Amino acid sequence: MDKYVIKGGTPLVGEVEIGGAKNAALAILTAAIMTDEPVTIDNIPDVSDINVLLEAISVIGATVDRIDRHTAVINGVTIGSVEVEYEYIKKIRASYYLLGALLGKYKRAEVPLPGGCNIGSRPIDQHLKGFRALGAEVEIRSGNIIAEAKYLHGAHIFMDMVSVGATINIMMAAALADGNTIIENAAREPHVVDVANFLNCMGANIKGAGTDVIRIRGVKSLHKCSYTIVPDMIEAGTYMFAAAATRGDVLVKNVIPKHLEAMTAKLQEIGCDVEEFDDAVRVTCRQRLGRTHVKTLPYPGFPTDMQPQMSVVLALARGTSIVTESIFENRFKYADELMRMGANIKIEGNTAIIDGVERLSGARISAPDLRAGAALVIAGLAADGYTVVDDIVYIQRGYEDFPGKLRSIGAEISQVSEEKEIQKFRMREVI
Ligand code: UD1
Repeated sequence: MDKYVIKGGTPLVGEVEIGGAKNAALAILTAAIMTDEPVTIDNIPDVSDINVLLEAISVIGATVDRIDRHTAVINGVTIGSVEVEYEYIKKIRASYYLLGALLGKYKRAEVPLPGGCNIGSRPIDQHLKGFRALGAEVEIRSGNIIAEAKYLHGAHIFMDMVSVGATINIMMAAALADGNTIIENAAREPHVVDVANFLNCMGANIKGAGTDVIRIRGVKSLHKCSYTIVPDMIEAGTYMFAAAATRGDVLVKNVIPKHLEAMTAKLQEIGCDVEEFDDAVRVTCRQRLGRTHVKTLPYPGFPTDMQPQMSVVLALARGTSIVTESIFENRFKYADELMRMGANIKIEGNTAIIDGVERLSGARISAPDLRAGAALVIAGLAADGYTVVDDIVYIQRGYEDFPGKLRSIGAEISQVSEEKEIQKFRMREVI
């Protein structure tokens, strides 16, 4: 099993380029099969969740032509089945987007219940409620969700909670329904906007994405287009927080600074300098940071996907901080690992009480999920001595070339597969 081995203690300094947003790409690549014409999508991150999704859409017959590492041409005209039987698809949360896309286009879909990172119970009742409101019959049989409709009609749908996935899924199905749909209490995340822009680029009529009311006028069919995926705000935030934790100076390039504001504000509050440019932010941190309180919220609040990285920074800050997780109930599994590195964290329900320590020390730890895994790498980079992070498959789901990009800003990190390579790394031999 591959692992990362890290020698910590070096401030990260330099420039790093951010790729396309994984969570936008998962939805956009799925939505691309809703037309029978070729769609070119650029700025696709080369991460394992995306590769699983592309494999799944090719298994049902769509043509997927990866013309370079970050660009694919998808054509849904060749789809031969609306039943997704590709077993790996269960592992990714975004497999649920196949429901909205296939139901919208073919009025029938059969997709395994989604998996994804184990960060709490992750129901999809709001997705199904939306499909039912659009006229579909939905049932769960033998682990699969089966959605079917004679035809889909517009509806006025009020979401019980703010859900990124449900907002996007309903938007996709409603794009090809008869008549008008209104989604109230919609998610406002940048990737919701990106998917709406992409659907509109294919000829859909969606207004209001980015606000909490989205209006969709159904169209008969969608057509070809070329589209570039928005930069990944979570990848960007991860490098910003890595700069902060190591007291470094990093220019994070190819970002939309507006999308990063909740993170920028917190970093400034605890004592970092964050300079915004048109498409970059520079995070500089020279002294020990201060405490704060953070609560995760839907966009534009502080993102749950940045909560573990924030906690690592606060584990090293002066004073006591409180981190409250309000989106997922099981998102503090990294705390035990961090404590093995010397952090002082107490979990009470959905709250972490963090007494900052002066230093962390390297340890052997495991990534419990994607974002927590990235946070533990940051901890390793900031800690004294050597850290080995196991279970990096989680991290590879969402970060393209994580060690390579970190090395480009001065980190000492290698991906190794054998135990003996860890020893070599420690002995400073080239691996
Ligand atoms: C997406 C992201 C994930 C991110 C999350 C919140 C993808 C593939 N994943 O996940 O990285 O952490 O948004 O920004 O884009 N809920 C229900 N019923 C539903 C749907 C959601 O109760 O039908 C609840 C969830 O359990 C959670 C909250 O609503 O407590 C928000 O979930 P949601 O926004 O849907 O997250 P995902 O789309 O799964």
